[in-house]
Amino acid sequence: MLTCLQQGDYEGAQAALASLSPDDRLDEVLCALLETLVQRAREAGRFEQLLRRINSGLLLDDILNNVYTDFRDLIPYDRLGLSLLEDGGQTVRARWGRLDGGKMYLRRGYAAPLAGSSLQAILETGQPRILNDLPAYLAQKPSSESTRLIVAEGMRSSLTCPLMAEGRPLGFLFFSSASPNTYRDVHVEAFLRLADHLAVAVARGHLTSQLSVQKRAAERQNRTLDRLNAQKNAFLGIAAHDLRGPLSLVEMSTAILLDPQFEVSADDEKVLLQDMRAQARHMMALIDDLLDVAVIEQGQLRLRQEALDLCQVLAESAERHQRLAQPKGVRVVLNPLPAAGIVHADPQRLRQVLDNLISNAVRHSPPGGSVQLAAEQHELGWRVTVRDDGPGIPWDDQPKLFQPFAQLSARPPRNERSTGLGLAIARQVIQAHGGQIGVESVPGHGATFWFTLPA
Ligand SMILES: Nc1ncnc2c1ncn2[C@@H]1O[C@H](COP(=O)(O)OP(=O)(O)OP(=O)(O)O)[C@@H](O)[C@H]1O
Ligand SMILES: [Mg+2]
Repeated sequence: MLTCLQQGDYEGAQAALASLSPDDRLDEVLCALLETLVQRAREAGRFEQLLRRINSGLLLDDILNNVYTDFRDLIPYDRLGLSLLEDGGQTVRARWGRLDGGKMYLRRGYAAPLAGSSLQAILETGQPRILNDLPAYLAQKPSSESTRLIVAEGMRSSLTCPLMAEGRPLGFLFFSSASPNTYRDVHVEAFLRLADHLAVAVARGHLTSQLSVQKRAAERQNRTLDRLNAQKNAFLGIAAHDLRGPLSLVEMSTAILLDPQFEVSADDEKVLLQDMRAQARHMMALIDDLLDVAVIEQGQLRLRQEALDLCQVLAESAERHQRLAQPKGVRVVLNPLPAAGIVHADPQRLRQVLDNLISNAVRHSPPGGSVQLAAEQHELGWRVTVRDDGPGIPWDDQPKLFQPFAQLSARPPRNERSTGLGLAIARQVIQAHGGQIGVESVPGHGATFWFTLPA
């Protein structure tokens, strides 16, 4: 009779009772009631413990890991998965899953439309669904990708439970077992008794997890903004300082030229005007660099690429810089190219890169030194090198060289001006061409800057 009562078979219990003598009946009824009470009390305690565990996690993963360890005496499973509704309920996406041993094929992130799926029917009825022979189900419904994946994981039966929070569908919990015929109505009842608490905990955990991801992203973004802002301020300081120097020289020269007290000879006047022009040119170069950086930073670098004779471009650059470097006693030498080389590049931008690399090399060369320009064929195209025998680049500075606004320890010689932007611009230009740029330098033994260009 006790077994019948426990299984809710009241007719069976009544029949068992009828077959007993009146004395035995009383004993039997009392015993059965006592047993049922004890069992119910034990179950209530177990539920309370489960609820505490469900509510003890803050993040979705913690809550589900708690469920995974503590749900087993209530519902059997070898795999547990959670999927949530997205896009206003149009998509079901796997958010969490765990499997005892074996490889998971249906992983976090797997998504499928809700419309027309069997999950939609489950949501409509609000009732869990038992499938006790998954391979047979798959044979009937070969289009069910998710069934195919969990069958491949070794699952043979499943209990799919809808999660509803405040009357609104939230998603599904999938219990799956490696044995066929695992699930019965008692398991559905067990789930339904905890369903509301589970759904609320999952909704809360999901929200907390999303908030914590968003918080981390916002913190990362803030750090980047702080860094960019600091870089920008430092850079504005450098730019203002660099513009102020030549401007004050121009101001001083004009003051001399305009002041009737000074008698300026025609020769001196020419020197002053030439100097003013040199200062103005430097300021224009600085402003051009600033505009270049602004354009490149906004991702608006447009290339006008054409087929170029690399040998000719290098020869022109070498010649021009040879003339400029003469007063310093530095030679700019172009090594003969091993073969005729055609590259697909923007001529103006390529010259800009070469100008910067060669002028850097000349600037850092000792008087009497030489700058070697060379090009060789490379697996994808051409590799151009600019070598000098200056002081080289300190190891600490090498990783920072191509970053915009990087302040390096090696400042240019006193009478030469620089903005510190040339290499950052060169890197962006070369990358926009699909090439790479870099440096090889042992401090104290010169530097070799190189870049590659696709043929
Ligand atoms: N050949 C080199 N030898 C030693 N140091 C170099 C060499 N080339 C570049 N550097 C270092 O790298 C820094 C950055 O070079 P970059 O070309 O970006 O700026 P810059 O030459 O200072 O200014 P700009 O090119 O804008 O006029 C230089 O200031 C210098 O410290
Ligand atoms: Mg430079």
